[in-house]
Amino acid sequence: MTERSSSAQSPSHADSPQWLLNRAELTAVIAWLFAAPTPGELRIRLEQVQQRLLDEHDPLHAADDQAIRFTPEVLQAELEQIAAAQTLERAHYYLNRLQRSLDGPRFAPDSDIDLRRWKEYDDILTDSLWLIERRDGSGVHRADYWGNFVPQIPHQFIRRYTRPGEWVLDPFAGSGTTLIEARRLGRNAIGVELQPAMVRHVEELLAAEPTPHPTVAVIEQGDSLTVDFADLLRRYGTSTVQLVLLHPPYHDIIRFSDDPRDLSNAPTVDEFLQRLTILTERIAGLLDHERYLVLVIGDMYRHGEWYPLGFQAMEAVRSCGFRLKSIIVKNITGTQGKRGSNELWRYRALAGGFYVFKHEYLFLFQRR
Ligand SMILES: C[S@@+](CC[C@H](N)C(=O)[O-])C[C@H]1O[C@@H](n2cnc3c(N)ncnc32)[C@H](O)[C@@H]1O
Repeated sequence: MTERSSSAQSPSHADSPQWLLNRAELTAVIAWLFAAPTPGELRIRLEQVQQRLLDEHDPLHAADDQAIRFTPEVLQAELEQIAAAQTLERAHYYLNRLQRSLDGPRFAPDSDIDLRRWKEYDDILTDSLWLIERRDGSGVHRADYWGNFVPQIPHQFIRRYTRPGEWVLDPFAGSGTTLIEARRLGRNAIGVELQPAMVRHVEELLAAEPTPHPTVAVIEQGDSLTVDFADLLRRYGTSTVQLVLLHPPYHDIIRFSDDPRDLSNAPTVDEFLQRLTILTERIAGLLDHERYLVLVIGDMYRHGEWYPLGFQAMEAVRSCGFRLKSIIVKNITGTQGKRGSNELWRYRALAGGFYVFKHEYLFLFQRR
């Protein structure tokens, strides 16, 4: 049976058609391949299996409640790898791996990514350079909040570092991108945002976004430096969270409000970093040990000088006892406004002897 994959829980190759294969039939096929007496005979049998897979009426496609999902290209590539093996010993190694992938999942730590089927997760990023061409604008996601992050950022981290039903905390919730992604992925999420108007806006977005899983996605108006997080979490039925996403203002690059408590109104960089440290200390105890915190931030350019705000903020979080796991550099995707000023910035860079920011940082930390 061929179907389109839409479940957030299933391995990805998210939009490609999937095969639902009969597990018993596939197991029998693998046993038959194992029994091939020579590499040549094995190749002949593999060709027959590939033909059978292309025939939708073959018993291999007779899906039942034990059916196993495969992306056609992934399975075909596995079969080709077996066919390319020079020795039966090597071919049996690959066949064993294929057989094990039918036995049931072996999850990566802190996620529901099935390591036995890792090739199916081709959309999960594992490199430290993220070049995201286009922001995900699906559903209620909007690009119109100046300074919101692309939904792919929370999406990637939620999938890699939480399991369904776990809790995500976002103390700078802004336009609610994290909350929307968490809901889609079946994780619970709590956000805090200073601006009442944004809170109302996010509540409207959440009301319009489908709820495919019985999870919590809430936003609370408040100052993350004083809000009683323990009480907030308790109200929604948890005492700890399993992932924190921190996307503070990049000091005063964008002023989000006139509220003096807003981190974008911190009078100096030092004051900004101090507040970020206080916040991190406040939430550190809410995060389970060995679980993850992500800081998303960029640098600043001022008075002819590059300020490494990102690395300063990274050190601030590290000083709170977190283990730095990765520094990811992500391209800054252009919004309409940014595109309009590109030419001007290019001129300024040429005239001023500097390079224009095209990246920001995603610092991944683990609580000790
Ligand atoms: C960079 S934006 C976050 C954007 C968010 N990730 C999104 O996708 O929409 C930072 C947000 O932090 C909020 N903020 C600033 N200081 C705050 C504070 N002390 N407590 C809570 N929120 C604050 C700002 O109003 C702004 O919406």
